[in-house]
Amino acid sequence: MDKLQEDLRTKRLGKRIFYTRKIGSTNEWAKELAKLGAEEGTVVVAEAQTDGHGRLGREWSSPEGGLWFSVVLRPKMRASETIGLVFAAGLAVAEVLREAYGLPVETRWPNDVLVHGKKICGILCEMHVTGNAAVFVLVGIGVNVNVDVKKVLPRSLQDCATSVQDELGKTVRLEELLRLLLERMEIFYDLYVKEDLVPVLEKWKKHARFIGQRVRVANETERVSGLALDVDSEGALVLKLEDGTLRRFLVGDVSMEQKQ
Ligand code: BTN
Repeated sequence: MDKLQEDLRTKRLGKRIFYTRKIGSTNEWAKELAKLGAEEGTVVVAEAQTDGHGRLGREWSSPEGGLWFSVVLRPKMRASETIGLVFAAGLAVAEVLREAYGLPVETRWPNDVLVHGKKICGILCEMHVTGNAAVFVLVGIGVNVNVDVKKVLPRSLQDCATSVQDELGKTVRLEELLRLLLERMEIFYDLYVKEDLVPVLEKWKKHARFIGQRVRVANETERVSGLALDVDSEGALVLKLEDGTLRRFLVGDVSMEQKQ
């Protein structure tokens, strides 16, 4: 990690990096540090997680070889605005995987990065608020990097997950990837904070092939099918239902509808 910190060209992200071989969840670790006052940009990274969390209470399989890390942010924004951070982080991952490794990435609302329709990265943003204001946000990023999906991930994930190694047929340096991700995240985080979500979303949407397709959206209360029209300026997915009505979703999972 010393070399990483020497090479890192950021102002805030990764100025302090904590590293461990194994931990329950880097988001939990980052949360403890944030509660103790860890400064904005603090990063925690683990070689493996024994209790990695995904969105909507799911488990996140985190064997050695992947890149599992969390960043502490202290944005001066309303709690409702922190939803935008997931797009800034997803865009950073998509751009780095495309530019540095030539992977044909796509973004899927709200927080996934896919290659050839399979998930290569997931992002979990968790926030602590006082009243309406965000006190800190933990941006947890998991990238399947040097992971042989068929050998290492559970059977249930083998058809829907991929990794950098499986796509390229070789392993890559985790520290280098982490450096590139932190540098790119800082750029999009700053852009979001200085302007608003729109410029970040415009770039994110360039990778979003699901827009214009028929999709299914599922959340804790419902499952709905329709045409994905847009992701609006607040990050909500706009769906046109069978009967022509428009619906906005702020939470949920998107999957492509099977073609008949
Ligand atoms: C998802 O797609 O559901 C989000 C997955 C997020 C996984 C990362 S790995 C690093 C950080 N620590 C966790 O426990 N989760 C996030």
